[in-house]
Amino acid sequence: MLRPLLYLVALITLAGAKQTLTASTELDISSCPITIYGQRYEQAFVNYTSQNLVICFKGFYGSGTKDDCILGPLPDSKNAEFDQFQRIPLLETIVQYNVPTIKTRMDCYLSISYQHKGGYVSSAPSLDNRVMSEPTANNIPLPVCIFCSQTTLALIKFGPLSVTVTNTPSSRQTRGYLDISGCRHSGAVYKPATEVNSPETCFSLTCDEDLVLKTSSCGPMDRCLGNGSCIPAALYDSIFNPKLDLVCTVTGPALIDFHGLLTSVRDRCTYSLLSLPSAPDFQVLANFQERHRKDVSFLDSVTLRLDGPGVQIHLKQGGRVQVNDAPLSLSTSAQMVHGVELSKDLTGVTARVSVSNFTIYVFFDGYTMQIHLQGPVGSALHGLCENSSRSLADLRVPESNPDSCLIQYNDTEESMINCTKMTEHCNLLKKEPFASCDINPEPYITACTTTLCSYPDRDALKCQFLEAYARTCKLQRNATLVDWRSKAKCSFCQDRTCSDHEFCGEKSVGGDNRCFCRAIFASKYRDQNALGDPTVCNQTSGSLTLVNCLLEDEGLDYIALHLKDPTCRGHMDEETHLVTFSFSDINRCGTEVMNTISNHNSSSSIITRKDQVFIDFSCVYMKEAMKAFKVRSSSIIKVSTSGVWNYTLTMKAYTDAARTRPVDSNTEVRLDEKIWVELKTEGLDGDLISVVTESCWATNQESETGSLRYDLIKNGCANPADPTVTVEGNGEGTSSYFSFNMFQFSGKSGNIYLHCKLQLCIKQGNSCIPKCNGARTRRSIRSRYEASALISMVWTN
Ligand SMILES: *[C@@H]1O[C@H](CO)[C@@H](O)[C@H](O)[C@H]1NC(C)=O
Ligand SMILES: *[C@@H]1O[C@H](CO)[C@@H](O)[C@H](O)[C@H]1NC(C)=O
Ligand SMILES: *[C@@H]1O[C@H](CO)[C@@H](O)[C@H](O)[C@H]1NC(C)=O
Ligand SMILES: *[C@@H]1O[C@H](CO)[C@@H](O)[C@H](O)[C@H]1NC(C)=O
Ligand SMILES: *[C@@H]1O[C@H](CO)[C@@H](O)[C@H](O)[C@H]1NC(C)=O
Ligand SMILES: *[C@@H]1O[C@H](CO)[C@@H](O)[C@H](O)[C@H]1NC(C)=O
Ligand SMILES: *[C@@H]1O[C@H](CO)[C@@H](O)[C@H](O)[C@H]1NC(C)=O
Ligand SMILES: *[C@@H]1O[C@H](CO)[C@@H](O)[C@H](O)[C@H]1NC(C)=O
Ligand SMILES: *[C@@H]1O[C@H](CO)[C@@H](O)[C@H](O)[C@H]1NC(C)=O
Ligand SMILES: *[C@@H]1O[C@H](CO)[C@@H](O)[C@H](O)[C@H]1NC(C)=O
Repeated sequence: MLRPLLYLVALITLAGAKQTLTASTELDISSCPITIYGQRYEQAFVNYTSQNLVICFKGFYGSGTKDDCILGPLPDSKNAEFDQFQRIPLLETIVQYNVPTIKTRMDCYLSISYQHKGGYVSSAPSLDNRVMSEPTANNIPLPVCIFCSQTTLALIKFGPLSVTVTNTPSSRQTRGYLDISGCRHSGAVYKPATEVNSPETCFSLTCDEDLVLKTSSCGPMDRCLGNGSCIPAALYDSIFNPKLDLVCTVTGPALIDFHGLLTSVRDRCTYSLLSLPSAPDFQVLANFQERHRKDVSFLDSVTLRLDGPGVQIHLKQGGRVQVNDAPLSLSTSAQMVHGVELSKDLTGVTARVSVSNFTIYVFFDGYTMQIHLQGPVGSALHGLCENSSRSLADLRVPESNPDSCLIQYNDTEESMINCTKMTEHCNLLKKEPFASCDINPEPYITACTTTLCSYPDRDALKCQFLEAYARTCKLQRNATLVDWRSKAKCSFCQDRTCSDHEFCGEKSVGGDNRCFCRAIFASKYRDQNALGDPTVCNQTSGSLTLVNCLLEDEGLDYIALHLKDPTCRGHMDEETHLVTFSFSDINRCGTEVMNTISNHNSSSSIITRKDQVFIDFSCVYMKEAMKAFKVRSSSIIKVSTSGVWNYTLTMKAYTDAARTRPVDSNTEVRLDEKIWVELKTEGLDGDLISVVTESCWATNQESETGSLRYDLIKNGCANPADPTVTVEGNGEGTSSYFSFNMFQFSGKSGNIYLHCKLQLCIKQGNSCIPKCNGARTRRSIRSRYEASALISMVWTN
């Protein structure tokens, strides 16, 4: 019955315009676009292969394109005919009769027909046996003609539906129609009116009569229970792959451990926060230091030890990172350093490390550190974060701590703290939006109130506790607390680099931040009202080093400070933040420091400070040092006769300790230059007599009793008030010498008269040697003094 109808169809095709396909050809079918399982095509690609004539729709048949292809038997020669036709009412009727799903009007019709000798192909699939619920788009099978001499491949379009047709002249093969309408999903094709349900995967699909596809499955954050029920992934994981998901928070002195228990650190030591028995080389350490107050310690930096003490990554304030001692510059894109992934954003630095089946995130923003640990349940952990009730002494890291870290300091009482107000602030954690997070806020509230009732609310400290709670909610519950920051103005210290004696904090006005001096460091200066170290002076140059955080405390900007010559300015060391004024060219820069270091903006308070600067900056003798002194006469010789002793005494100055370079009237001696003065006698019997230099002193007048007097040697010993004086060989023989640094009477520029009084001493063992170091017996020498002599030397300039 079918055969005559198709034969008739073949007759009708003769009416169309034919195209002979002699080789692989691309065909334009846009006037009859064919839809194959829901995918519409306007082009077809014909290939002759060694086994088949292939019509593909995505592109030429090949390794990349084998889907959506129709394989026909190999033509006898490469001259298949291609043709396109409009609706053929008779064909429409035939197809509708044979394919009950096709009910709509036929649109158009594509055909390729060719000669095929053929043979019996017993394995040819039969449409009748095809399991229609599981077709694939790949190689849409066609019934292969058996004992046929001519084959027609046809595609017929019925609106959104399509049918392929094979001319099957064999009497045995009756039906050559395949409905290729349907839906696609994830590479599979579905016939119209198909429903698929898989409880194992919770997947269900329908492709309805109108080819509308509907699917359902668990959401991206859900998992399938295997019986068609979806549950949230976190819940699924907690049942089927339980994992540790723990957060430990350290902010200021407070530590909230993995179990939500609070402790606080009061010293300035380094503690082990986390270590893993399964990875003994890995450790997270927290270093505590004081900030504004001497008696309260803050978390200051975090250290990751990776290879025992071998590799240490330090996370510091201002987003600084050091690997061992070398600074590392970080950007938002993650960087791998010794297996640690480091990244930095506006909020802080995060280090991610995977050790022994754990993933550990360490975050630090300069105030708050959080360890977020994920790993298998039941693993042992150690450190303060695991159990904050452990004795601190057990977790102190011996090799990181100086002995002084345990010293407790007292500080003045804070009068400005309003504990009631701070408690109100901390209790914000009980309210929305914080209340929407189910993590217990109590340890955070306690840490917040305890800290803020003993430490001033500076540097946005009160925000740190809220911030830490908000981050914990984010990490453990993926909960974003909407807009909590609008309740408290917070400033962060990212990208500000402070030196070791500083920390980053909030300015009292303006909300900006700067580096503040640590309290213990600053106290040695504040106690002396100093802004820096004493001036370092030598004969030709000098330098003054000021501490920038102290200057800033006083509202001074180092940029505005200069010496007398405005071009002589301070230089701030990038690392230490110490400001150094060097004045190698004294004449140019000027030395009258009080007048010369100044701030441009004069106000009475600044004038007061200038006095402080002056005290530190007084290189008193710098200018004087340029002056040269000369000995008016190279040495003074005095013949002395006293009693039975007849001898000569020489007083001679030298510029070297070996006393080989005498100072003569041409030698210039500068202030502060060391000179050696030798007192030498001749004519005394050294076996019997020693010469003791009893005293030496300087006057600004010729008379040795002049009222302006400066002692170099007193009672046979160097004047302890002048550390430059050294006395050698005094009382040991008939000569001795001493040294001192050249000086000048303050404010007086005239001659200097140096007088020495000597005494002869009858030797009895070492009894003539003055006992100088703290001995009270030196007066006993006096009893054996035989005679004294006075000798003087005049220095002029
Ligand atoms: C199909 O024809 C195209 C164009 O001639 C050719 O590039 C491709 O290799 C052919 N594919 C096969 C499998 O012969
Ligand atoms: C699937 O199993 C879970 C747990 O056994 C059960 O609570 C749920 O009701 C089941 N769902 C269905 C659709 O049977
Ligand atoms: C990590 O987990 C795997 C499989 O869960 C286990 O075989 C292995 O022993 C674990 N490694 C360590 C160091 O715990
Ligand atoms: C924490 O350490 C303390 C003191 O060592 C101990 O008493 C307590 O049981 C520990 N707690 C836990 C949860 O291990
Ligand atoms: C700190 O103050 C307390 C009580 O006022 C006192 O007992 C303690 O000795 C002080 N400590 C130091 C180091 O001054
Ligand atoms: C402390 O703060 C509370 C609440 O803000 C306020 O009522 C009280 O007056 C404040 N006390 C002082 C001494 O400022
Ligand atoms: C966290 O929540 C956001 C938005 O609610 C979501 O896009 C994200 O996938 C969630 N992440 C996890 C790990 O659950
Ligand atoms: C003085 O100090 C400067 C700078 O430290 C140094 O270069 C110079 O050599 C010193 N001069 C003397 C005489 O010690
Ligand atoms: C000095 O005064 C000017 C103008 O009043 C101001 O802009 C500047 O910041 C002041 N400088 C210092 C160091 O205070
Ligand atoms: C001291 O000695 C010198 C020469 O050795 C001699 O000329 C002088 O007279 C002596 N004087 C006395 C008082 O003996």
